[in-house]
Amino acid sequence: MDGNGRWAQLRARPRTFGHIKGARVAKKIITRCAEEGIGTLTLFAFSTENWLRPQLEVNFLMSLLKRYLGREADTLVKENIKFMMIGEPDRVPADLMKIIRETEARTAANTGLNLVFALNYGSRNEITQAVKRIAADVAAGRLNPEGITEQSIQERLQTAHLPDPDLIIRTSGESRLSNFLLWQAAYSEFYFSPVLWPDFTTKHLMDALADYQLRERRYGRVADSERQIEA
Ligand code: FPP
Repeated sequence: MDGNGRWAQLRARPRTFGHIKGARVAKKIITRCAEEGIGTLTLFAFSTENWLRPQLEVNFLMSLLKRYLGREADTLVKENIKFMMIGEPDRVPADLMKIIRETEARTAANTGLNLVFALNYGSRNEITQAVKRIAADVAAGRLNPEGITEQSIQERLQTAHLPDPDLIIRTSGESRLSNFLLWQAAYSEFYFSPVLWPDFTTKHLMDALADYQLRERRYGRVADSERQIEA
């Protein structure tokens, strides 16, 4: 959800104004994804690097997230959306963590869209933690180094219970992953939109999905059409 700050600055408003509009856009996109029958939507709300922003902006984002969840929790329950967080809880303010855990518990039995907030999330940190757990299991004799597989890592990531993303959308014209789901994105399709997040609409979302539907995902294999020619 990139471009909130620039969107506000273009209007000579503080960056926080962009985040407020960004949260409204997030609501519309979440609702549409649920309606479209998408299985999982992960929103990168705050990275492990975002703590380096001015303290006022950090505080604002934390209180915006808290207000947002406080306001939307009933809707999530009603719309059958299952909410969860990935990221490290340690630096997240206790009052925000409390409402996150409550919302997770209240929506745990929901069967519709999985809505994942990546908050204080960084993929290198996530992989490092997984490696630490593997090392501890080896040291304790629970795991044989020869027995370490890709699955051993996958099942120790914070997304262990979630599918890998099919499509990653980044707004605002930046073409990079910025420490988001590095392991999980091995075979994801990417869609980079020049639109700043506060201007991103459900129409833009549908354009991205239509573009995705035209992609041929080969996962390192040859195309089906090529295989027929060989045969
Ligand atoms: C990136 O734009 C956006 C963020 C770091 C925060 C994302 C948070 C929200 C959209 C609001 C809360 C979300 C929900 C779902 C309640 P930027 O600030 O990096 O913009 P810039 O690149 O133009 O500076």
